[in-house]
Amino acid sequence: MYDVLVVGSANADLTVRVERRPGAGETVLGTDLVESAGGKGANQAAAAARIGGRTALLARVGGDAYGELLLHAQREAGTDVTPVIVDESARTGTAMIIVDPDGDNSIVVSPGANAALTPQDVAAAKHTIAASAVVSLQLEIPMESVRAAATAAEQAGTRVVLNPSPAPRTALAPELLAVADPLVVNEHEARQLSGRADGTPAEWAAALRDQGARSVVVTLGGDGALVLDASGATEVPGVRVKAVDTTGAGDAFTGALATRLARGDTLPEAARFAVRVGAAAVTKPGAQPSYPTRAELEALVPESVQDAGD
Ligand code: RIB
Ligand code: NA
Repeated sequence: MYDVLVVGSANADLTVRVERRPGAGETVLGTDLVESAGGKGANQAAAAARIGGRTALLARVGGDAYGELLLHAQREAGTDVTPVIVDESARTGTAMIIVDPDGDNSIVVSPGANAALTPQDVAAAKHTIAASAVVSLQLEIPMESVRAAATAAEQAGTRVVLNPSPAPRTALAPELLAVADPLVVNEHEARQLSGRADGTPAEWAAALRDQGARSVVVTLGGDGALVLDASGATEVPGVRVKAVDTTGAGDAFTGALATRLARGDTLPEAARFAVRVGAAAVTKPGAQPSYPTRAELEALVPESVQDAGD
């Protein structure tokens, strides 16, 4: 029924651009505030839907204007929002984001309704999980709900894509790691979870697979990605673009990856495609507003540029 079911967070992103980040006790002036659709789960879903994946989202939003904004953005992207729960007793999650002139961001998330997404909510979506080729997970909802989704997927034979972000301070539960196929980590998450402050992407990936992940993708920004699966390690070339705003680029990558895996790509093939989607997302402001359709992707980051790079 679905290529991808995303179980996860939805946030309104409140973004201000600054010349430089304020230090402790310091005040800086920024640009006008921009409110847009974000949240790691909702971002993955929007990315998957925009490139044509049959996508559904299980998330909680509040019964407020930000909840409306998020539902509208999902519908516009083409996501089935039937599983989304509108929680009148909670505020929609919000993310306070500052973006610097290099397009790099700092984010503080106030979880709001995301914190109320329970294992019972996940259990109620059991049939949707079973009817999906891939379930895509991140860590902005309670950990027990992430684990419930992973277990339900495992039992139904649904593939699990796990992006452990924000990176937990403690190791991931072995049962969670053991269903990740792949575990998708950026460099920071790779170092943190592999327990290796230094090393190479291939070494981090090998360490994470030794810890139990079925396969691993280390995303490397403009340098592409390193993929480790049963066929061995594959370096996926990056695409150089002018970075306007990197917010949610990793989520775009993961949503695209999940869609392509659902459609039968191998992990290296899916990662090649997802690198282009992530690159396209970096060229425009915001998270979801920057995600490309197939046609926009071809225009912004044609397939041929991937091998023409350095
Ligand atoms: O990964 C980017 C996302 O992190 C933003 O959209 C923000 O909402 C936070 O969840
Ligand atoms: Na962007």
